[in-house]
Amino acid sequence: MERGFVLLVAALTVYVASGVQGTAHLSFANNTQVNITEAGCGVTKLCVTTPDGCDPAGNTSCLFLSVIASAPVAPNGTDLSVELRGDSMGYVAVGLTANASEGTAMLFICAQNSSDNGTFFFQTMQRNNSDSELTPTEKTVTEIRGLVKNNVIQCEFNIPEVNATNARSSRVTTFTVLLGNGSIDGDTIGPFTISLDSGSLNLANPASNIATTPAPNVTMTTSNTTSGSNGAVHPHAVLLLLSVLTLSVMTA
Ligand SMILES: *[C@@H]1O[C@H](CO)[C@@H](O)[C@H](O)[C@H]1NC(C)=O
Ligand SMILES: *[C@@H]1O[C@H](CO)[C@@H](O)[C@H](O)[C@H]1NC(C)=O
Ligand SMILES: *[C@@H]1O[C@H](CO)[C@@H](O)[C@H](O)[C@H]1NC(C)=O
Ligand SMILES: *[C@@H]1O[C@H](CO)[C@@H](O)[C@H](O)[C@H]1NC(C)=O
Ligand SMILES: *[C@@H]1O[C@H](CO)[C@@H](O)[C@H](O)[C@H]1NC(C)=O
Ligand SMILES: *[C@@H]1O[C@H](CO)[C@@H](O)[C@H](O)[C@H]1NC(C)=O
Ligand SMILES: *[C@@H]1O[C@H](CO)[C@@H](O)[C@H](O)[C@H]1NC(C)=O
Ligand SMILES: *[C@@H]1O[C@H](CO)[C@@H](O)[C@H](O)[C@H]1NC(C)=O
Ligand SMILES: *[C@@H]1O[C@H](CO)[C@@H](O)[C@H](O)[C@H]1NC(C)=O
Ligand SMILES: *[C@@H]1O[C@H](CO)[C@@H](O)[C@H](O)[C@H]1NC(C)=O
Repeated sequence: MERGFVLLVAALTVYVASGVQGTAHLSFANNTQVNITEAGCGVTKLCVTTPDGCDPAGNTSCLFLSVIASAPVAPNGTDLSVELRGDSMGYVAVGLTANASEGTAMLFICAQNSSDNGTFFFQTMQRNNSDSELTPTEKTVTEIRGLVKNNVIQCEFNIPEVNATNARSSRVTTFTVLLGNGSIDGDTIGPFTISLDSGSLNLANPASNIATTPAPNVTMTTSNTTSGSNGAVHPHAVLLLLSVLTLSVMTA
């Protein structure tokens, strides 16, 4: 018991000292090779990319996210298994939120430390969607794996016990996904530049962004997404537009 307390204090000290690494809510796995491909996209995993349809295993610039959501178990919600790949000498990140222009987003950041030969590190932040301010948070993330090659950052991680329903009447697994990147200045996470706003997506359905228009969203979507769209708005998207959206997350 006492040793547990000492370890906790040590972890908090490290957190305060670096502001970034060694936080107790993050756990890493080094035993698995990071290997992000488009295998399974639309079938076993939901994939969100910009530019549209880019190949995470190719050698052109590609910001790629895949998500697999476990079957929700009340009251804890769903577990998300995430792959993220993007181009940056600083960081790439995925944000999960109810509405990208109000409330807050949980931001999961995969980064490289340029003052340490591009060593991988991971951080969670909260984004205030109104003023884009980032503040550190302690959202539990497990099984973190990362790989940095020059300006390409790849990472995989699990986010346990997420429930989008807590303060609104929609699906447990329905979120707006934000993808983007930013710079690291010393130990400081620079502003998050959003290059894709998915609109509302059911993360539990690997095909939820296929065969309908990318859900209606405010700004900042990539514009070259004409293929396969028919202008139809998914009924769920309409429902969501009508709901008052707030996001809250149960932490472990
Ligand atoms: C992963 O590597 C870090 C640093 O090398 C180490 O502290 C940690 O215990 C390792 N984790 C596992 C699950 O092996
Ligand atoms: C990555 O995975 C794919 C398919 O799962 C496999 O064909 C490929 O060899 C793997 N690459 C590496 C570097 O492990
Ligand atoms: C990457 O680029 C090189 C040279 O431009 C090319 O030969 C190779 O086929 C490309 N690899 C992939 C996976 O696209
Ligand atoms: C999600 O949260 C709502 C409201 O707190 C709760 O009623 C529901 O049981 C939760 N669902 C799951 C699957 O955890
Ligand atoms: C973000 O990504 C774009 C497109 O790949 C790239 O041009 C830009 O340099 C990146 N910015 C940062 C800060 O990583
Ligand atoms: C970075 O890599 C170079 C060459 O591999 C090495 O000499 C140097 O000590 C490394 N620096 C750090 C901070 O690890
Ligand atoms: C977000 O920023 C706005 C404007 O600065 C502020 O009024 C609001 O309280 C902030 N919300 C949170 C959750 O910090
Ligand atoms: C980056 O590496 C430097 C040198 O090793 C270290 O002092 C610093 O704390 C690291 N920053 C982060 C964000 O890990
Ligand atoms: C998102 O929030 C903005 C500003 O509060 C609001 O105008 C818009 O209708 C909301 N979007 C959705 C999908 O609820
Ligand atoms: C929900 O989470 C709590 C705390 O982590 C855990 O004790 C409980 O077993 C979980 N319930 C289910 C149904 O997974």
